[in-house]
Amino acid sequence: MKSPTTLLLLSLFTIVLLSCGGSDDSPTEPEVIVDPDPIPGQTSTYTAHVKTIIDSNCIECHGDPLDQGAIMMLLTYDQVVDAVNNRGLFNRIATMGINSVMPPLEEGGRLPQVTIDIVEDWIADGLLEQ
Ligand code: HEC
Repeated sequence: MKSPTTLLLLSLFTIVLLSCGGSDDSPTEPEVIVDPDPIPGQTSTYTAHVKTIIDSNCIECHGDPLDQGAIMMLLTYDQVVDAVNNRGLFNRIATMGINSVMPPLEEGGRLPQVTIDIVEDWIADGLLEQ
């Protein structure tokens, strides 16, 4: 006979399985929640903080010309903001999904957490240009 504890554990196990299963490649991967202030005391801007991150890690593919199958450029403020708002840029850098992470795994994979935090702080601070 199953005790309530066993049933509870079984349900939890199922929930964990369901929430992990197949999320790697799926376009419906849950949104990563942006922290309201990931770097207290810093106001991150595109020009001062984010552009160098994109230049060093993204534009080898998301440049002009596009390379290795990338589908949009990340060369200007407007292009990067558009990718944040409409192409899930933050999700793609913050994800643990090895098939969807940017940069792709074969290019080194997920950026260091401190770097991801800077992009997150820029988004939380309102996508300021300067
Ligand atoms: C080695 C080449 C390469 C690098 C480096 C790279 N990407 Fe990509 N990126 C791709 C390719 C190819 C796709 C399209 C396939 C896909 O969605 O995975 C893509 C897709 C994306 C998408 C989704 C676009 C859409 O509309 O679905 C975003 C957002 C993105 N990249 C952001 C970035 C960011 C930010 C960086 C740097 C931190 C980066 N990428 C680095 C190759 C690259």
